[in-house]
Amino acid sequence: MTTASMIAKMIDVETPKVEAATTPKITTPTTPKITTPTTSNITTPTIIFDLNYAPQMSRNEMKALANQLVLSYASNRRYSQPFGLVFSGSDFHDSTLHEALSKQDFSSWSNVSVSDSFDSSTPWQAYADKNPVYLTADSPNQLTSITSESVFIIGGLVDHKEKPDASHNRATQNNVPTARLPLLSAVQINTHNESKNNTEHVDISTLAVVQLLHSFYKFKSWPTAIYNTPSFHSAPLRKFLHWKPPYDFLNDVENGGRPYKLGAGFCLTSGESFRPPTIDDINIIKTHIE
Ligand SMILES: C[S@@+](CC[C@H](N)C(=O)[O-])C[C@H]1O[C@@H](n2cnc3c(N)ncnc32)[C@H](O)[C@@H]1O
Repeated sequence: MTTASMIAKMIDVETPKVEAATTPKITTPTTPKITTPTTSNITTPTIIFDLNYAPQMSRNEMKALANQLVLSYASNRRYSQPFGLVFSGSDFHDSTLHEALSKQDFSSWSNVSVSDSFDSSTPWQAYADKNPVYLTADSPNQLTSITSESVFIIGGLVDHKEKPDASHNRATQNNVPTARLPLLSAVQINTHNESKNNTEHVDISTLAVVQLLHSFYKFKSWPTAIYNTPSFHSAPLRKFLHWKPPYDFLNDVENGGRPYKLGAGFCLTSGESFRPPTIDDINIIKTHIE
């Protein structure tokens, strides 16, 4: 049995099912001119980055967004089954974003589609037949399943300055179904926004969202997926969270309950078998975190 399957056995693996969300009311696309990018015959989920938030962002936030997109792309391509990525929206032509992406030789990226050839202020329209779901922490619905046909929209925005409900408002105003990621299944997160502390309505980074979607697609269990998501083990997210059982052994009680640093130590076992983390533990988890 692999370590990953042992972990999966430690918790109840929930049966993925679609939670009744609002009825999709997406209008028919006028001229859908993009296709799901693929690198093989395997169909994988698609992520659309909705790049239409520039008016709400500063230059620094645009640069940070470019960085998140680069990191998301790099992370996505490391998985054995990369998802299709679509960058869609007028912000793609914003000079700050475009320059930052160009520096990364963006034009040569594989498995990525750039769509500015249709009404890019409403990127969900081109995928209306696949019932895309807008991911937003403020959604009343939990995401409960991912299939190879799933299409998700991630808001292309960074909020160094709070932008409460921005993506949720955008989705609901356009009648796009929404879902949040059930973070409380494995972690409690405290952020600067006290009203959202220890709720599931906490915003995480674009990179963390992409990694978590991959992980859930693989493990079909939210706690296991969160545990196997690298962003939850590294800065900045690690600073704000506490692991819940059975993963609470990742909290260092001698250090105020703060999670161990990946690389500074944690082990894969809890309870009686707990022991101080070793280099081997770290190597094991690095192997199992894709
Ligand atoms: C940094 S967040 C932006 C936060 C912003 N205040 C907003 O209104 O969405 C970037 C994107 O990641 C996705 N996201 C972040 N946290 C999420 C969560 N807990 N559940 C679902 N999606 C999330 C959303 O698509 C969001 O638009």
